[in-house]
Amino acid sequence: MKKLLVTSALPYANGPIHLGHLVEAVQTDVIVRWQRLAGRDAIYVCADDTHGTPIELKAREQGVTPEALIARVGEGHRRDFADFEINFARYGSTHTPENRAVAVEIFERLRARGDIDRRPIELSYCEKDRRFLPDRFVRGTCPRCGAADQYGDVCESCKSTYRPEELKDARCALCGTPPVRRTSTHYFFKLSRHLPLLSGIAGGQAEPRVDVQVQRFLQGWIDKGLDDWCVSRDGPYFGFPIPGEEDKFFYVWLDAPIGYISNSPERDAYWRKEADAEIWHVIGKDIIYFHALFWPAMLEGADYKLPSRILVHGMLNVRGEKMSKSRGRLTTAREYLSVPGLHPEHLRYYFAANLPPEPVDIDLNAADFRHRVNAELVNNVANFAHRTLSLLRDRFGGRIAAAEPGPAWTEAVEALRAAVPAYEALDLKSAVAAIVAGCAVGNGFLQANKPWAAEPGKAHADLSLCVNLAYAAALLLSPVTPGMSAEVLRQVGREGATLADLGLGGGGLPAPWIREGKVGEGRALMPRIETKAAQALVPGEGAVKEASNATARGSLAPAVSPGVGRGEGAAGLPEIPFETFAALDLRCGVILAAETVAGAKKLLKLTVDLGEGSPRVIASGIAESFRPEQLVERHVVVVANLAPRTLRGIASRGMLLAAGDGAAVSLVELPRGVPAGAKVR
Ligand code: 2FM
Ligand code: ZN
Repeated sequence: MKKLLVTSALPYANGPIHLGHLVEAVQTDVIVRWQRLAGRDAIYVCADDTHGTPIELKAREQGVTPEALIARVGEGHRRDFADFEINFARYGSTHTPENRAVAVEIFERLRARGDIDRRPIELSYCEKDRRFLPDRFVRGTCPRCGAADQYGDVCESCKSTYRPEELKDARCALCGTPPVRRTSTHYFFKLSRHLPLLSGIAGGQAEPRVDVQVQRFLQGWIDKGLDDWCVSRDGPYFGFPIPGEEDKFFYVWLDAPIGYISNSPERDAYWRKEADAEIWHVIGKDIIYFHALFWPAMLEGADYKLPSRILVHGMLNVRGEKMSKSRGRLTTAREYLSVPGLHPEHLRYYFAANLPPEPVDIDLNAADFRHRVNAELVNNVANFAHRTLSLLRDRFGGRIAAAEPGPAWTEAVEALRAAVPAYEALDLKSAVAAIVAGCAVGNGFLQANKPWAAEPGKAHADLSLCVNLAYAAALLLSPVTPGMSAEVLRQVGREGATLADLGLGGGGLPAPWIREGKVGEGRALMPRIETKAAQALVPGEGAVKEASNATARGSLAPAVSPGVGRGEGAAGLPEIPFETFAALDLRCGVILAAETVAGAKKLLKLTVDLGEGSPRVIASGIAESFRPEQLVERHVVVVANLAPRTLRGIASRGMLLAAGDGAAVSLVELPRGVPAGAKVR
């Protein structure tokens, strides 16, 4: 069988790993571990995506070089993934001499074959900052619906798209100056020259293979017409300079996927066109265009091997909304790890159990997380092994007997066996379900035959059959729960077993594999998840929610809560990395007006100047502590980048920091000399 290289999307090096990244890393890791278990030469390669404007600006803001920033963030990424047992053959970076060399080579090959065009275009430019502004760095009022403070490319309120110059009262997001239009010459990749390949992918005839839902997206884009893609950016920019140009760089999305190539060990053995290997990419549905159109076209143009498959997963949602930094809903990998009682394999299990091969979103829900992990992984799989092994130790000194299988064996092994084609179809959800079903048969068998009380001969045989089932289940689940499975395999003396040892492939039913010997000492396999621990997983649920509900001032993610509410401060919350704190945009707000809200005893409607040109409306649950007229002209601290919320029909954009609750709320106030909009750190 051909050797296999699997990648997941390269995380940006401008923030910590969060649960959204982990969905993908777990999916990829489980797939690669499965392939290896099945005897295939498979590796998982990933890297940090290190270039672009946000990283350049963030480094500047922190007063460090971009190189220092990406080195620090990269270390954190590696640690986070390692702690979730993600097993990379290599985790590299896009900011390396190798990546630069491959990027230049691919660009030159594309240029040589006529795929690259060079022409002047008009762009937004800030004369004060002396830089061209990417669409995301122009903000203003939506030209369609009038929503204030929208990005230059898409309105978050009405979802319409437009060009940055169409915004009303457009201004530079960095300094507030209205941008001007300025001409600059740029490079374009002529995507439509690869139409035959791209139509083949969309039609399911050409590799990379994609799910039919993804084919439909691709066909829709092709039908609309494939625009040329601008692959250069003007300085200041953190990226690779374009040869022969002054102050022009490759766009981050050009050299990012090239990082898959440059970070592969034995690069040629995978990426040369004739290489006897396969490449699979695992990505989220938000970056299909880049991976299933631009990327195959670039590879075709530059004469590289194409991936044979692109597996697309859905997004991780919290109560139906995509988790994203801008919405402040992130739970980071580190926050998860810092919650007592949450095990990395709890999350690996939950994600795998929710990952079919189609791009279906996962809705994160604390109760469901706890319930499923406890019911399936802990009570069913882990407990089956634990009960079986402890009973065998207690009654028979841990000795395994030869036993003749009966109908329950057939039923359990058939159920477990269904995991094999499911894994092969990249259907982790069905694979996990099959293993859980197999263990449920085993548990039912224990319950029915009561080997703790039954006559010794029969009890010994029954327990020995169950040891075999526990072994097979642990081995089959090992791609998902490598640590727990290794412990079971150790206890039954089968460390290092592979799928071939189970002989599940043929038509007939295998006989019990372990027929003699003694099981090793017992150790705990997997703890249960307590309610409180599960709540810490999902921003806004549980303890923190109760605290902030007391004053109806909305809820922040537990990890970023400034400790509003009951004064329990940060003491009860997990430690957070500096980046999580830095994600809060705290500003000085000057209250211009305040009014009561009919029918809402606790709520006041405030008009607050954040120095943005037009003031914001903020609904605040402080009516029991203040009369409206007491608030005017106070300088308060506002969380300015909190996702908008509608409270009693008021679209509220921000939150005031305060201490106490009920009728005893004190606002966090700033001296009058601090201007509206000043950043609070
Ligand atoms: O969307 C993202 O997070 C990008 N950093 C993914 C890049 S994937 C690959 F193309 F490098
Ligand atoms: Zn500016």
